[in-house]
Amino acid sequence: MNPSDTPIAIGSDHAGVELKALLRRTLEEAGHAVEDCGTHGPESVDYPDYGDRVAAAVLEGRARFGVVVCGTGIGISIAANRHKGIRCALVSETTSARLTRQHNDANVLALGARMIGPEIALDCLRTFLATPYEGGRHERRVAKLSPDRAPAA
Ligand code: RB5
Repeated sequence: MNPSDTPIAIGSDHAGVELKALLRRTLEEAGHAVEDCGTHGPESVDYPDYGDRVAAAVLEGRARFGVVVCGTGIGISIAANRHKGIRCALVSETTSARLTRQHNDANVLALGARMIGPEIALDCLRTFLATPYEGGRHERRVAKLSPDRAPAA
């Protein structure tokens, strides 16, 4: 999973807190630095707050990627995608995890803890982190997702 000193930011609501803990353990065991943006317990919280925190960590350059988890993955991915410059992809299988890196240069992965099992979630995470952006023909399209982002020459 290409360990690096620049952290992966992770965040979840209460529905995703157990999966987030597993993702954190797995990332750390693989040598990644992790910024855990919470939540840290089972008490009910609001998923937008954690999508916002992970988005900020990525946009401020503290994290190279973000991972967000809620029950479906939908609410927290919507929250993350409200931030200009965030390209958050909700995935439930590894082909989408690979293609969203190759084609969309996704910088945040969203997972639904109540939708997929832990092994699929881990496979999606590993695939997402291991896959580079292809650039090329995708660059113009990705630039249109963030109008301030200069297309590659
Ligand atoms: C929380 O009950 C649930 O609504 C949340 O985790 C998420 O699924 C929202 O999209």
